[in-house]
Amino acid sequence: MQPVIRVNWSGRGHLYSDEEVETVVRVMRNGDPLTQGKYQTQFEKDFADYAGASHAFAVSSCTAALELSALLCSLKPGDEVIAPAHTFAATVIPFARTGARIVWADIDPDTFLVNAKTIEPLINERSRVVIVVHLYGMSCDMDPIVELARKYGLLIVEDAAQAPGASYRGRKVGSIGDFGCFSFHTHKNMTTLGEGGALLVKSSEHARLVPGLRHNGMRAFTGEREDYWLPAMSDVDFDLVGVWPYNFCLGEVQCALASKLLDRLDQMNAGRSAKARRFREAMADFPELVFQKALEGCGHVHHLLPARYDGPSGRDALIRKLFREKGVKPVVQYYPLYRYPMFQRAGFGEARCPQTDRFFDSMLSFPFHHWQSEEEFNEMIAVTREAMDELRKEN
Ligand SMILES: Cc1ncc(COP(=O)(O)O)c(C=O)c1O
Repeated sequence: MQPVIRVNWSGRGHLYSDEEVETVVRVMRNGDPLTQGKYQTQFEKDFADYAGASHAFAVSSCTAALELSALLCSLKPGDEVIAPAHTFAATVIPFARTGARIVWADIDPDTFLVNAKTIEPLINERSRVVIVVHLYGMSCDMDPIVELARKYGLLIVEDAAQAPGASYRGRKVGSIGDFGCFSFHTHKNMTTLGEGGALLVKSSEHARLVPGLRHNGMRAFTGEREDYWLPAMSDVDFDLVGVWPYNFCLGEVQCALASKLLDRLDQMNAGRSAKARRFREAMADFPELVFQKALEGCGHVHHLLPARYDGPSGRDALIRKLFREKGVKPVVQYYPLYRYPMFQRAGFGEARCPQTDRFFDSMLSFPFHHWQSEEEFNEMIAVTREAMDELRKEN
């Protein structure tokens, strides 16, 4: 018999306010055009201001932002890209597509993130790019990573899919490296109707190339035209010679909603953080449940609520108990990428990442979304305590 699940994962990160719904309906009714118009321009300005970045672009997903970053890194076969394996596959697929070699960096056991110590031993003369992932909503320790990148001439790509609004020593994540990639996918801290994303770009030269790469190489003809329809409506050319562009545009309805959501993002993030703090405090007398160690001076936006279970019975016994007996359904994230057939078949199956393996084999991620009810949340606290207590007694 299937257990009754009382505390489950949700497919969406947050609900919408009436004002947000009205924004969507208004642009549905009146928007003209419905893509690449004034709402895109407005959102790009709003997001650049919010993130403290010089150039922001609305894109159809974080994967699209990562694809554009990978193109702009101008990688050649044989070049190496250093990336964590403890992340979602989209972090590295765009870089693997370029023909570059993916080199896996281990995570730190306390922060669950890559850091300068795990990255530096992997750097050699072929290294070109380091990808950091601000996973679960917490910033990587960026200053030493920026120092490494300067020393060895590497570009930094920040995968901030899970961390819009997170900060590192006074700066917003995504604005620190050369590229910052954000997701507005359904489950994220802010979602533009299920899909969406943004790209922050540091260099003006890179920023100049993004509009064409994002939209099929389209641009205005240069120079005066006596007849506006000649030789054609718009020109098409390579922005990077030989690099075929994409269509990664985000529609006007989603851009208008994104601007609106930015007004509430900090407040939603604060709600997540308060809940996460409450959960950790409630588990303080169970040191076998180990949470992500916060870096000093960082604003964590708690996209998820992961923990390592170091109890003698092991993680699977805890999940089994929570799921079968207590009605809570945690999940396990993220399968180390080098264990997947896709990366193994591409020749990226080798890694020396003991902490990544250890963490994956002992972690669980509790159901956690912005609109989770107090009742469900309190229930999760109570039965998680109960389950760990019972496991202590059984061992
Ligand atoms: C760490 C990370 N990177 C990239 C992505 C891809 O985001 P999107 O679905 O917007 O392409 C996700 C989404 O789950 C993610 O969690």
